[in-house]
Amino acid sequence: MAKVIAVDGPSGAGKSSVSRLVGKKLGFLHVDSGALYRIMTWQCLENGIDTSDPKAVAAFADKVEIECVPEDGRIKYLVKGEEPGDRIRTPDINAHASPVATVKNVRDRVTDLLRSLVKFGDLVVEGRDITTAVFADSPARFYLTASADVRAARRQKEEVEKGIADQSAEAVKASLLARDKIDSSRKYAPLRKADGVIEIDSSELNLEQVVDAVLVALPADWR
Ligand code: DC
Repeated sequence: MAKVIAVDGPSGAGKSSVSRLVGKKLGFLHVDSGALYRIMTWQCLENGIDTSDPKAVAAFADKVEIECVPEDGRIKYLVKGEEPGDRIRTPDINAHASPVATVKNVRDRVTDLLRSLVKFGDLVVEGRDITTAVFADSPARFYLTASADVRAARRQKEEVEKGIADQSAEAVKASLLARDKIDSSRKYAPLRKADGVIEIDSSELNLEQVVDAVLVALPADWR
């Protein structure tokens, strides 16, 4: 049976960098579940679906064709044969992704896709409901957090480095907190720290230190 490391936490807590590196060290495939919600959001916008209308979004959820392919230590997603790349990382997608992710049909669709990925092997899956819903039975579940200021500073640096946007730290923080609020208060599979998960606050830790904290907490025969 495939092993699954589940990692949840709010935006900018460092989930992607940590999950990618943990995956690389162990030979587990990195799975970015947020990218699937971003793809659903992007496709809604491309097809003129009103993201503030849950019924319209629900009806559209099954129509988006997403192909999942293991490559270079991760699962890549193809929409009509193409990787979306930074088209799903814009401030516009950031603003629309949380409302789209509240829609049950969207969540069911993404959850099914994620669970199907075990056919490719051992996984490190990061998101908001991986430890509580998608892979709640995993013996290796983590909740990564950091202060809002640290998280906003990380996201802003990332956006500027990638040339995606040039927002002020305050604007990035406001958008991040708005998303946290929707993600944590929605009806279906809200972001929350589940009982029994290992919490790591990365505010004052570097990447290697967080990765080490994850590795030492894994079942001994997974390391
Ligand atoms: O991690 P991210 O910023 O790329 O996530 C994009 C959006 O998708 C964000 O609003 C939270 C949501 N999401 C979710 O609801 N459940 C997940 N497992 C992953 C992301």
